[in-house]
Amino acid sequence: MPDSESLCYYEEDHVSNSSSEPDFATILDRAITRRNSLKQLAGWIGVTTLGLNADRSSSKAAASFGQTGLTFEELARGFDETSRVADGYDWQVIAAWGDPILPGAKPLDVHNQTGDSQSKQFGYNCDYIAFIPLPSADPNVERGLLCVNHEYTDTNLMFPGLKTRDDLVALPKEIIEAEMAAMGHSVIEVARQPNGDWKIDQNGRLNRRLTALATPIRISGPAAGHPRLRTSEDPTGRNVVGTLNNCGGGVTPWGTMLICEENFNATFSGSADTTPEAENHKRYGIDGPSRFSPAWAKHFPRFDIEQEPNEPNRFGWVVEFDPMNSRSRPVKRTALGRCKHEGAGIITNHDGRVVVYCGDDERFEYVYRFVTRRAFNPDKPRANRNLLDDGTLSVAKFNDAGTVSWLPLVFGTGPLTKENGFESQADVLIETRRAADLLGATPMDRPEDVEPSAVNGCVYVILSNNSKRSADQTEAANPRPHNTHGHVLELIPKKTESGFDHAADTFQWNVFLRGGDPKSEHGDAVCHDEVSDDGWVSRPDNAAFDSRGRLWMTTDGAGESADTADGIYVCETDGQNRACTKLFFQGPRGSELSGVCLTPDDRSLFVSVQHPGEEEGSDFEKPSTRWPNFDPQLPPRPAVVAIRHRNRQPIGDR
Ligand code: FEO
Ligand code: CA
Ligand code: CA
Ligand code: CA
Repeated sequence: MPDSESLCYYEEDHVSNSSSEPDFATILDRAITRRNSLKQLAGWIGVTTLGLNADRSSSKAAASFGQTGLTFEELARGFDETSRVADGYDWQVIAAWGDPILPGAKPLDVHNQTGDSQSKQFGYNCDYIAFIPLPSADPNVERGLLCVNHEYTDTNLMFPGLKTRDDLVALPKEIIEAEMAAMGHSVIEVARQPNGDWKIDQNGRLNRRLTALATPIRISGPAAGHPRLRTSEDPTGRNVVGTLNNCGGGVTPWGTMLICEENFNATFSGSADTTPEAENHKRYGIDGPSRFSPAWAKHFPRFDIEQEPNEPNRFGWVVEFDPMNSRSRPVKRTALGRCKHEGAGIITNHDGRVVVYCGDDERFEYVYRFVTRRAFNPDKPRANRNLLDDGTLSVAKFNDAGTVSWLPLVFGTGPLTKENGFESQADVLIETRRAADLLGATPMDRPEDVEPSAVNGCVYVILSNNSKRSADQTEAANPRPHNTHGHVLELIPKKTESGFDHAADTFQWNVFLRGGDPKSEHGDAVCHDEVSDDGWVSRPDNAAFDSRGRLWMTTDGAGESADTADGIYVCETDGQNRACTKLFFQGPRGSELSGVCLTPDDRSLFVSVQHPGEEEGSDFEKPSTRWPNFDPQLPPRPAVVAIRHRNRQPIGDR
């Protein structure tokens, strides 16, 4: 956006990291030549190479190991105005942008949206989805909470008449308020009808909107109250209005939601050099006019860093809230660090401590891990209330030898001292990226989801792409200056008698797959030999596991490199079909798919169709698709889709 008049949001061009560590693609290249030595891993975890699944914590998982069940007829890849699913399946829209979800909400009116109307409607650009089962009075009707993030807005697709950047600068306050209310999160009660369809209950007691406009949020953890978090609106540094750019997330073992603030930088305007936070802001890509919407700062001066230099320090955190209490106050948990958090991959460690994995989604940024100090207490919910305020944040350094070291970001250790400008742990957390630079973390190719599998204990790091890595950055050993299709790593924690040790200082790792057409002349894809012409993955982004531990991945931006719409792909992680990806669903043109999520019975799959029609030259008047309504009066609408088998089989069956 900053380099052109295009209003097509949002391929983040910026690279903020100038660290000189050998980047990941270099190390990966060395690692791929080492693929035949995978058997060495078997020794580490005590199983055969093709059965990395060493610890079956549940008998269900054990019974299903090796039974692939991914027998569905693969979808043929394509690129068109609508969405398609594999034969034998149906898809339906559950909730689309502007749907009323609170009592008294108005229907979507694209010519008269306001902050108030949008605050009672489903937000824009849905992303992470969690499904939380609820008790049901009717045994034939299943109920649950659908918890959905809303990442950002495509203003020129939502509202008429926006053709140039000047049009964005001139946007009135009502539209900015509507945009702010379209970000955040929606909690909706949903019910599965006897015919298998899902329906919103607009009067659900737990229905709720969190927004960037008006939701009061507490700040907790080591950085709470720090002078660098204080502003003229909040002299305490402990309270902030709103959460922004909510991308991925997770559900904690105690039932709260973690929702992650990702591209928060894009919202701010102003010259970093005029502030006392110049180096900090630049490291997060905040300097100059907003990359997203310059009118935010005009109408809300707190988004102008020249007026409120500390305001950006109050964003880029992981937010926790309790979806079972619609009046609970969300909390920004500063102990988990500040970055462009993609998501929160959560697992309970063998010793009861809780581990949260996270990618910082930007080219050359890092992978993080947070480990709580205390163990999760399943018997006393209140004891877990502030578990995420106290623990150790670490950053990943990948070593040539197939090991990854987790380097703790702890004030006073190593270079994280006064000599380097850190006065406390609060400083380390506010400037997480700079602290990680100093530790020598490995710059990665856009880390998106980092998801631990509860079935096989491994952690899957989804690396979307890195088109920006130039040849001169890789001169030593790396022949691939551009990672167009992305790749997936598999991290393997050491096994103990009581389970995997996700808190260990060192894990093993290997390449799970490398995206791209395996038949391409470049020949640098890494996947199962039997992946079809439809089934190979480009630009993986979000990931989730079903109850059998099969990996469901969505893509973002496949069309830019592979002339195909973004899709949902699935594969086994173990056994003879390991990394044999198959295409299951495709979105309409211009969309990315995100937030894939399955019900506990594996009989419904939810996915967010984000930014349909977001393409060069596509706008409100002439969108490239009007999915899902195809109503000439309506622009395309981001929506959550539910997919089910026509014969009630588990998702993945023929
Ligand atoms: Fe919001 Fe990195 O995707
Ligand atoms: Ca996105
Ligand atoms: Ca993503
Ligand atoms: Ca992405």
